[in-house]
Amino acid sequence: MSDLATTTGSTLSRRDVLRAAGSASAVASATLGMRGVHADNPSGETLKVGLIGAGGRGRGALVQTLSVPGSNVKLTAIADAFKGGIDGTMRALREMQDKVDCPEDRQYDGLDGYKRVIEASDLVILATPPGFRPFHFNAAVEAGKHIFMEKPVCVDSHGARLCLEAAKQADEKKLKVVVGLQRRYQTNYREALAKVREGMIGDIIGGQVYWNGSGIWFRDRQPDQTEMQYQVHNWYHFNWLCGDHICEQHVHNIDVANWFLDRLPISAYGVGGRQHRVPGQSSEIYDHHAVNFTYPGGARIASQCKQFPGGENHVDETFEGTKGVLKLHPGYALITDLDGQELWKFSGENPDPYQVEHDELHAAIRNDTPKNDAYYGTTSSFSSVLGRLATYSGKTWKYDDAMKLDYRTMPEDPTWETTPPVVPDKDGNYPLPMPAGFKINSVTKPVVS
Ligand SMILES: NC(=O)c1ccc[n+]([C@@H]2O[C@H](COP(=O)([O-])OP(=O)(O)OC[C@H]3O[C@@H](n4cnc5c(N)ncnc54)[C@H](O)[C@@H]3O)[C@@H](O)[C@H]2O)c1
Repeated sequence: MSDLATTTGSTLSRRDVLRAAGSASAVASATLGMRGVHADNPSGETLKVGLIGAGGRGRGALVQTLSVPGSNVKLTAIADAFKGGIDGTMRALREMQDKVDCPEDRQYDGLDGYKRVIEASDLVILATPPGFRPFHFNAAVEAGKHIFMEKPVCVDSHGARLCLEAAKQADEKKLKVVVGLQRRYQTNYREALAKVREGMIGDIIGGQVYWNGSGIWFRDRQPDQTEMQYQVHNWYHFNWLCGDHICEQHVHNIDVANWFLDRLPISAYGVGGRQHRVPGQSSEIYDHHAVNFTYPGGARIASQCKQFPGGENHVDETFEGTKGVLKLHPGYALITDLDGQELWKFSGENPDPYQVEHDELHAAIRNDTPKNDAYYGTTSSFSSVLGRLATYSGKTWKYDDAMKLDYRTMPEDPTWETTPPVVPDKDGNYPLPMPAGFKINSVTKPVVS
């Protein structure tokens, strides 16, 4: 069976995940000090890095991993769906030639190049559209490689289960995994969390998390593209590839809620839609979602995300506790009491979290210390999927029920000739999910309500 055809019958509940994460780190702690197979250059050996998905973020992450101070690291192999991504990345590395050992025969275009890159590398960067992520993550873990993977890590229930299984395997193999939810690597967030854990705002009982922005890109169809090539190139507008922007971008803020509450949502209920339409730019995703998440203990988090111009934009988080209120943004953190009097404000250095992610990943590889973000990367990505299920269906969805769904959107063994899961009508428009008649559409099973 090919990697993209991998399935898992296991259905891990929220409780199972938390238990697995706890015991895994205990095992990893017990083995602290033992050297990993691919330790980062203590013996002078070069850490071979492979990049899968050579677009904007993949290129950025690659430069960051090549820039970790004191690391002996080189780009060894690269894959992108399209040759243009590879060529652009190789050009961008012109000033870093001492960090590049990636001849043309280790540059792979197409949908299968990830396999060759994984073979050739010690550490892989996974930065394709997220629909592919669970399969690439699973393949990298099976091959015993360290991983930096971008968020979100899954876009449906099948992908979430595959990631959770792979996360367990990564622990067993003592692999190091960092997920690009960079607020977890940002000093102001970390210091604010310490204040919350000390009890400065009391118990969190509610909050608001926002990614309200002005819009996202659209890539036009090219005359010689198959439908599959068009969708992979214009991936942000197709759910099987991006998971809608509640998953693609708002996962950052939903993850902050899960992190600060130290719990996963029980359920989600919400509304959404698409009000901004550009002629000739049909999209399968909504441009706004508003979801209420309910957490164990009764805390409620209101989540909003929009992607259209006009109105106020907010990308931030607020948490209300029994004793105070915390406001967070990548540039600040402020705690007030219930009357609005300042109790604490972040000040000081706030280093670039995108670089810190790689610095800490390399340190974990070098010292063989525990590092596996894949559990929370998956559960926060799946919390976002839960929100999307709520807005698409107009119904309340429970996390545990959603996790068990037979819901897989990625076709098996996709090629450029495969018909994607969604196709345009005769006018070139893609169907928008509508609560009336919404069905879970799995590519592996008949449609279910
Ligand atoms: N953490 C952050 O702040 C942050 C910021 C930007 C993007 N991202 C994440 O990074 C990922 C990529 O986003 P981007 O902005 O770089 O998009 P992009 O379109 O610039 O790059 C994606 C690249 O992946 C390639 N690709 C598509 N399918 C592939 C496959 N099967 N195998 C190999 N290559 C494939 C595309 O051709 C493209 O070059 C997304 O998951 C996104 O959410 C994270």
